[in-house]
Amino acid sequence: MTAIVLDGKTMAQEIENELLERIGILATLGTVPCLAVVIAGNDPASHVYVRNKEAACSRLGVMSIRIDLPESVSQKELMDVVSELNNDEKIHGILVQSPLPKGLDEFEVTESISPEKDVDGFHPSNLGRLVMGLDGGFLPCTPAGIMEIIERSGTVTSGKSSVVLGRSRIVGMPLSLMLAMKGVDSTVTVVHSKSVEPREICKAADILVSAVGVPGIVKADWIKEGATVIDVGINRVLDNSKKSGSRIIGDVDEGAWGVAGRMTPVPGGVGPMTIAMLMKNTVISAERKS
Ligand code: GUN
Repeated sequence: MTAIVLDGKTMAQEIENELLERIGILATLGTVPCLAVVIAGNDPASHVYVRNKEAACSRLGVMSIRIDLPESVSQKELMDVVSELNNDEKIHGILVQSPLPKGLDEFEVTESISPEKDVDGFHPSNLGRLVMGLDGGFLPCTPAGIMEIIERSGTVTSGKSSVVLGRSRIVGMPLSLMLAMKGVDSTVTVVHSKSVEPREICKAADILVSAVGVPGIVKADWIKEGATVIDVGINRVLDNSKKSGSRIIGDVDEGAWGVAGRMTPVPGGVGPMTIAMLMKNTVISAERKS
């Protein structure tokens, strides 16, 4: 058996096409969605992610403003930048790329972003709305992208067993809530570093999502025959056969393709959907303001 590819790139393209229509309607109302991206320091992976976000903005005709800050930026300087963006009427979305340079308080920065412009969906007010099942906030982009993959691929969730590997505030925790919420109705287990027998727990999953950032940790014998497997890992590993000397692999071992029913590739699975959801949140924010 070879798993069906859950093609995030194609699904993201579909979402971009849907957004283009909404952006066209906004244009007739005199509104151009605008995203401000703040990046501090020189982390090479973060710079690649930010470039990809800017490229998506440019494809869709979303205005993007990029603010580059030095590695040495102080907490106050960074908070002042966020405050200015909060007060700028033409900006609909604010994203501060993480990780921040050492010594800066990421939680304080996240809390200082106006919840109405928090298109990352990380503000406690937006995460709180998710817990309470309230509309009107923003959903975090990676979990929202995963839910779109599940929905658009026609994967049945009701009454099924979902297992989420990882309990981060960006992916694992919010995703667990989304998979359990009314209308999705799966039974969710969160596996983390202190879980006993993770392999046995994963093997019982109809839907298995790995978001731990450990290359190849999920082996073929962790997977139930025919399961839907979503790989959130973006892990750079050495590969001398490549010109760059490295390549990107996921958390799920290649052998899983022989056991799973459907599976996301890395790259080309969850990554493009995260960016599509960021664009969607920015458009939603502009629609709410117009
Ligand atoms: N770093 C890695 N993923 C993300 C994300 O989704 N948002 C932000 N702001 N930083 C990130």
